[in-house]
Amino acid sequence: MPLLIAIDGPAASGKGTLARRLADYYHLPHLDTGLTYRAVAHVLLVNGWPLDDEAHAIEAARRVDLSNLDKHALSAHAVGEAASRVAVISEVRRILVEKQQDFARQPAGAVLDGRDIGTVVCPDADVKLYVTASAEVRAARRLRDIENRGGTADLDDILADIRRRDERDMGRTDSPLRPAVDAHLLDTTEMSIEAAFQAARAIVDGVQAERNDA
Ligand code: C5P
Repeated sequence: MPLLIAIDGPAASGKGTLARRLADYYHLPHLDTGLTYRAVAHVLLVNGWPLDDEAHAIEAARRVDLSNLDKHALSAHAVGEAASRVAVISEVRRILVEKQQDFARQPAGAVLDGRDIGTVVCPDADVKLYVTASAEVRAARRLRDIENRGGTADLDDILADIRRRDERDMGRTDSPLRPAVDAHLLDTTEMSIEAAFQAARAIVDGVQAERNDA
């Protein structure tokens, strides 16, 4: 039976790491849907086009190739910020959601993480997780990531950025970030990655056991 796991949560909540760990553990393909919005933003940034240039954003969304997302180029903090601006364009969302839904239809199932996976992309997912953490802890984690990659940044700037991104992602009209009614909430503020993974694994195993009994 395919296993489809939907993981949503705000920026730097740890959902990406968790999604990768779960995908490894259950041998499932994984899609970080944030990369698709980042890919669109990246095209606009490198061409010097404004982030509210809908025609170019839509064209870039059509060209997004899931098998060829350059994680390295797309990982910059500034690209994430720009992605949250193109993510308010409904036609961009419609095009990317279709590609994400194609990815989700794989024989073994899949793990997808993002903002609207449990609510819009895969409303019928077998397991939905909504991963949160306080904005302060998320900012500290993001700073550590940047420093580990040899960069520098200011904690207050990152915190302000994260708050702005939360507001934009939760406040937009089309597919705002919010937990699906049937999502399991996982607050990782005081949890290590390992503890969060074990908690998520227990939830997935529980759902699988229920399915096997049914
Ligand atoms: O997760 P990540 O930080 O890479 O996402 C970048 C931005 O892309 C988010 O802030 C959000 O605005 C947008 N996004 C989205 N829906 C998704 C994934 C990401 O709107 N499923």
